[in-house]
Amino acid sequence: MTGWVTVAGLGPGAEGMITAEVQAAIAAATDIVGYIPYVRRIAPRDGLTLHESDNRVELERAAHALAMAAEGRRVVVVSSGDPGVFAMASALFEALEAQLDTFAEVDIRVLPGISAMFAAAARAGAPLGHDFCAINLSDNLKPQALIEKRLALAAQADFAMAFYNPRSKARPDGFGRALDVLRSHCEPDRLLIFARAVSTPEEHLRVVPLSEATPEMADMRTVVLVGSSLTRRVGRFVYTPRSVPE
Ligand SMILES: C[S@@+](CC[C@H](N)C(=O)[O-])C[C@H]1O[C@@H](n2cnc3c(N)ncnc32)[C@H](O)[C@@H]1O
Repeated sequence: MTGWVTVAGLGPGAEGMITAEVQAAIAAATDIVGYIPYVRRIAPRDGLTLHESDNRVELERAAHALAMAAEGRRVVVVSSGDPGVFAMASALFEALEAQLDTFAEVDIRVLPGISAMFAAAARAGAPLGHDFCAINLSDNLKPQALIEKRLALAAQADFAMAFYNPRSKARPDGFGRALDVLRSHCEPDRLLIFARAVSTPEEHLRVVPLSEATPEMADMRTVVLVGSSLTRRVGRFVYTPRSVPE
């Protein structure tokens, strides 16, 4: 039997936000590989082996998936949201690059999913309706100084922004520093959206001006959207217009 490995995005949480092609890949799989909470979203069935692993072992997990596919198994590596946004798709290609001679012939596909920033933006209205960027605030894989440089330049360029991994127990201070960087470049009434656990029963959205934002408003289940200088409220919604005046 010919094996394959598919890296698939499960979306932000709701069953209805999993694409039909991801559902079809899972239905055809012999093995599911991923971080524990994501694998637990997959219903067990006969003929399907679930391989849960801890976070921070992405390369080992990716190499394991490639090795099983090379042996003829049909493997789905699951990520939350979109697998190409701070997730397993890059890890899989890093593992491939490290052992290209061994895995060059493995059939690999990446299936997109709804990323947290898009699910959160849709709940709020259209805050990412003009130019925007996404920044991972975790310093696990990059220096804190680079994070702060990118934040400052994005604020100066007046991008709307989406912050992933804003704050964790291991990194309680980084998000406060990110807010300080924003405060030195943006006006106090700049809108921030704290979107927690979007599309799950614990979903909670809060819109505040930068002057009222505090580090405690974010945790690891929150994506933070920062408006551009043109982002504004209309009724209960927040949106960014499509044009920028001369
Ligand atoms: C390792 S990143 C994975 C991102 C994922 N690949 C995506 O495209 O959404 C994890 C971060 O995504 C964000 N996130 C994931 N699911 C979320 C949800 N349902 N609601 C809000 N933020 C979420 C949080 O910022 C969290 O710390």
